[in-house]
Amino acid sequence: PRVAVVVVAAGSGTRLRGGAPKAFVGLDARSILHRSLLGVFAGPSAQVVVVVPEGYEGDALTDARDAAGAAADLVTVVTGGATRQESVAAGISALWADVDVVLVHDAARALTPPEVFERVVAAVDAGADAVIPTLPVVDTIKRVDDAGRVVAGVDRSELAAAQTPQGFRRAVLEAALAEAAADHTDDAAVVAAAGHTVITVAGDAAAFKITTAPDLERARAIVQAAPE
Ligand code: CTP
Ligand code: MG
Repeated sequence: PRVAVVVVAAGSGTRLRGGAPKAFVGLDARSILHRSLLGVFAGPSAQVVVVVPEGYEGDALTDARDAAGAAADLVTVVTGGATRQESVAAGISALWADVDVVLVHDAARALTPPEVFERVVAAVDAGADAVIPTLPVVDTIKRVDDAGRVVAGVDRSELAAAQTPQGFRRAVLEAALAEAAADHTDDAAVVAAAGHTVITVAGDAAAFKITTAPDLERARAIVQAAPE
């Protein structure tokens, strides 16, 4: 395939404290990772690289083969690193030769609709070096100092909340990761630091990141109301 999706699932989930690395915590009968991969395989045809904590490679392969169905040959599982950026780099190193568009996706955004993957791929195909799905910010935002005092309001019309999958021309992402000095919280920041323009497409509220226990409860309720 000419598209690859790197699903980063190697985090420990310290804020969720779910008793297992976050991607391997149960959502319904299956894991968060399994649900994420159902969404990935419902999107554009792609090589799927799953990046997991050391010791979870076998569990990930089981989840991925089940979610992939007939597309199981497209799955590669690799071991991640200590930071998200290192995990992304580990995933990139497993890309097949013919891939030229790479999407990086958080396994923790388990309910991301396939249409978001399609929008991101379409924008890279239309010529963008880097594409991120975003949502408008709905809360009123304040800048606050160390003492907790409000310093200033922030015009929310110039803000957007970034989601994944984030899409890149392969060569752009590989070069930016190779020269990245700092650790960045998302891939768009790595590519922007290397001087590339990042454009946005519409995200989706369903693509929220499972971060804390209430997020997991919300995801479980959604899945229960609409089973696969
Ligand atoms: N991730 C990863 N490798 C890491 C850290 C994070 O692959 N070393 C992945 C996570 O598995 C997750 C995504 O990056 O799918 C977003 O990270 P986050 O939501 O912060 O997950 P965790 O780092 O696992 O959670 P926490 O920060 O609460 O420990
Ligand atoms: Mg984290």
